[in-house]
Amino acid sequence: MTSRLDGPLKVTGQAKYGADHNFPGMAYGYLVLSTIAHGEIETMDVTAAKGAPGVLGVYTPFDRLELSTARSALFGETWVPLQDREVAYYGQPIGFVVAETFEQARDAAMLVEVGYRARPALTSLEDGLATAEEAPGTEDLAVLAEGVESIEEALAASSVVVEQTYRTATQNHAAMEPHSAVAVWESGALTVYSGNQGSDLQAAELASALGVDGASVRALNPFVGGAFGGKARTSAPAFLAAAAARVLGRPVKAALTREQVFTATAGRAATVQKIALGAAEDGTLIAVRHDSWCATAADRSFVEPTSHGTSREWYATQNLALSQRIVPLNVPPTTFMRAPGEAPGSFALESAIDELAVALGMDPIELRRRNSSIAPPGKDLQWSSKHLDECFQVGAQRFGWAQRSPGGREDGDWLVGMGVATAMFPALRFPATVEITLREDETVVISTSGADPGTGLLTVLALVGAESLAVPVERITPRLGDSAFPSGGMSGGSTATASAGSAVMVAAVEVIDALLALASAPGGPLAGAELSYEDGRVLAEDGRSMSFGEVLRAVGRESVSATGSSAPGEELTKHSFSSFGAQFCEVRVHKWTRETRLSRMLGVFDCGRIINEKAARSQALGGMIWGVSAALHEALEFEGSGRPANGDLAGYLVPVNADIPEADVEFVRYPDTLHNAVGSKGLGEIGTVGVAAAVANAVYNATGVRVRHIPITIEDLLVQ
Ligand code: MOS
Repeated sequence: MTSRLDGPLKVTGQAKYGADHNFPGMAYGYLVLSTIAHGEIETMDVTAAKGAPGVLGVYTPFDRLELSTARSALFGETWVPLQDREVAYYGQPIGFVVAETFEQARDAAMLVEVGYRARPALTSLEDGLATAEEAPGTEDLAVLAEGVESIEEALAASSVVVEQTYRTATQNHAAMEPHSAVAVWESGALTVYSGNQGSDLQAAELASALGVDGASVRALNPFVGGAFGGKARTSAPAFLAAAAARVLGRPVKAALTREQVFTATAGRAATVQKIALGAAEDGTLIAVRHDSWCATAADRSFVEPTSHGTSREWYATQNLALSQRIVPLNVPPTTFMRAPGEAPGSFALESAIDELAVALGMDPIELRRRNSSIAPPGKDLQWSSKHLDECFQVGAQRFGWAQRSPGGREDGDWLVGMGVATAMFPALRFPATVEITLREDETVVISTSGADPGTGLLTVLALVGAESLAVPVERITPRLGDSAFPSGGMSGGSTATASAGSAVMVAAVEVIDALLALASAPGGPLAGAELSYEDGRVLAEDGRSMSFGEVLRAVGRESVSATGSSAPGEELTKHSFSSFGAQFCEVRVHKWTRETRLSRMLGVFDCGRIINEKAARSQALGGMIWGVSAALHEALEFEGSGRPANGDLAGYLVPVNADIPEADVEFVRYPDTLHNAVGSKGLGEIGTVGVAAAVANAVYNATGVRVRHIPITIEDLLVQ
C-alpha cells in the first residue's frame, strides 16, 4: 500500500501540467474550428483578425505554418492541421490565431470569416451501414470444426440460438486536462510541454511534422491530467504551437477549450454489432458469430475492433466467425480509448451470453464457466495463467450472488437486479529502456521517458526499483515524462508496469554489476575481493561490507549509472497472454420513474502480480466507473448538421460521486512470470471491460426489459 509519490503535488496544486508553464515573451494561440461537417474551404478572410489588438499571426490553409503529416514508427501517420482546405467534420481545426494574450487571440479568432463549399455530410452510423467498407488491418476470420462448411451450418446445428444486434455510442475521453502545449525554441531546438502518453513518441511526431532532426525536439510531460488513449498521438495544439513558435521566434501556448476538446481531438467510435451464439442444451457453445461495424473518420485512420477484441479469444468454441467493417463519417476522428475494441465489444458479447443463459435457463456464471477457454479458439498457445473461474467464485461469494433470483426482487418502489460479465484484456508489453543511477548520498534515481498519465507508473518505478536494488523506497527518485531520458515506450495498452518494470529489473542488475566492478577494481575499496550485493550493500567474502554510497565516496565518484532494456520476445511463441476479471453489478430501477441507479458493483481481477495495491485498486475502480458511465450516461450526439449537440460537460454526462454509491475491487494474485519478469499483467483497461454489459444484464434481471444499446435511458425502460 504505497500512496502515489506525485499525489501531494497534485492535490496541493504544485504539480505543473503542460499549460502551467510560462515563459518571458510568451504568446497565446487559439484554434479556429470549422462550422460545417463536410466540404471545402473556399475563402478565409483574416483581414479583421490580423488587424485586431495584439494579434501576431493568423495561420490558415491559405497562409500555412511550416508543417507536414507526422510519421512515427508506432502510429504510422498522424493528422496535422491546416494541411489542406478539406473539411471532414464539424469542429475540425482550420486556423490558428496567435496574439499577445489569450483573450486577444480568442477575440481575433471570432473575426475570421470562412467561406465554404459545403457537401452533404454523412453523420449517422445507421445511415452509413449500407455503404460500409472493409476494415484495414482487420481481416474476417473463420475457425470451423472439421467437416463444418460455414458458421451458419454450425448455428443451424445448435439446439439453442441467440441472435441479436447491439449498439454503443460515440464517446470522448473527456480527460480533466484539455489538450494543450507550450512550445519554446532556442538555438534551433524545440522544447514542448504537453500532456501525452509517451514523451519520446511525442518528440518523434513533432520532429517529423516540423521537418527537423529528432534530436532537436525535447518533449516534457511530468504531469498529465488524464489521457486514456486520447493523448497517445500528438494533439493539434502541440503541432500548431510548435510551428507558430518557430516562425514568430517566441514561446507559444495553446490550449483547447472544453468544448473544443469534443471535436478537435479524437474519441471513441460508435458501433453496431450483430452476434449469434449457438449452444447445446448443456450450454456448450457450438458457434459464435460476431459481426461489427464502427464509425471512422473520412481518413479511415482508426478501427474500433469489437469482434476481434472480444470473441476472437474469450470463449472456447468449435466454430467462430468474425467480421469487422468501417463506416467513414463526417464526425470527429476516432482513436484509442480505454480498452479500444474490448469495451464496446464486451457490451455486445456479454449481453449476448446473458441472453443465452436466459434462453437455456442456466445461471450466467455457470454458462461462462462451462465455456472457459484454455487457449484462444483455433490457436495452439494456451493462456500462460488464467484464474477467471476463481474471479467468479470469489466475486459471487463476496457480492452475494446466491441471493439473486432470475426475476430480480422488489424493494419498495424499486426493482432490484444483479448482473455479471466477463472481462478480458490482452496482456501486452512494449520495448522499454530504463536508467538507474546510484548516488554517493545513498539515493537512487530511476529514469525513463514514458509518462504517468495518472496510472501510478511513477510510483511503480520506485517500488520495482526498491525491490530490485533492495533499498527503501523513500531513497528512490523516479523520473518520467522527458524525451531526453531513455525510451520508456508508451503508457498505453495497459503495458507500462510490465514494460518499464521489466527494464528496471534488468537495469538494476546492470548497475549493481557496475558498482561491484568499481569496488573490486585495483585501487577500489574492496580491491581484488570476490563481491556480492545484498540489502543495498556490497559484501566481500571476508565479511567486509559497504553501502553503495560508501563505495562511491571511497572511489571519489558522485554516482554510477547503467541502463537496462527489455522487450517482448520468445514468450510470445509459447503462450497466449491475457488479464481476466469478473464484473458484478447491482442496479435499482424505479418502478414508476424508470430511472436506473447503480447500487453496488464489484470487480475481481486476475492481473498477475499486484505491485501497488492502492494504485491498482484505483485503476480498476476508475475503469469500472467508466463502464457504468458507458452503460448509463455517456453519449456524444450529433445533429444532422454534424454539430455535436452536447459537446460540453453540461450535456455530455459522466458519473459523479452520487452515481457510484458503492464500488469494490478484489484481486486474485498469481504472478505471471511467463509473461514478464515482474509477473504483472495489465490492469489499466480491463477495469472497464464488461461493466456496461453487467449493468444491462442487471437491468434485465430487475425489469425483464433487455436493452441492447448503451447508454440505457429512462425511455428504454418505460413499461411496454
Ligand atoms: Mo490506451 S486506450 O491504453 O492508450
